[in-house]
Amino acid sequence: MNQTIRFSVSMEEQLVAALDEMADKRGYSCRSEAVRDAIRSQLVRDEWDESGSVVGVITLLYDHHTHGLSERLTQIQHQAEPCIISTTHIHLDTNMCLELVAVRGDAATIRTLADRLRSLKGVKHGGLSGTSTGIRLP
Ligand code: NI
Repeated sequence: MNQTIRFSVSMEEQLVAALDEMADKRGYSCRSEAVRDAIRSQLVRDEWDESGSVVGVITLLYDHHTHGLSERLTQIQHQAEPCIISTTHIHLDTNMCLELVAVRGDAATIRTLADRLRSLKGVKHGGLSGTSTGIRLP
């Protein structure tokens, strides 16, 4: 069982005020939860900088009328199949599509895949939201 340990941290008054303001704005119930979340966020960023498996979602916003774009997006995703867990396609209106590509694998490979997809002509916005498999995250 994971035991909770109390420890004290010294920091400047202004930093504590900023922490409290941030915690309040984001709806944390207490300082400890805000600090725990900040530490986990840093650990996830570290996972993305190290070797090992990570998880993420690539978002792609595009006009499906762009010549050859849908085919190219599908082709690249088929080539990257080992990394792709699932793809969801949402028709936003008569022109625009939103694609959510759930990915798992090596961070550098996923970053390269996201860059290949979002740099295609006709992709109006592309993003990569990185998280963890949870295995290495306490
Ligand atoms: Ni569509």
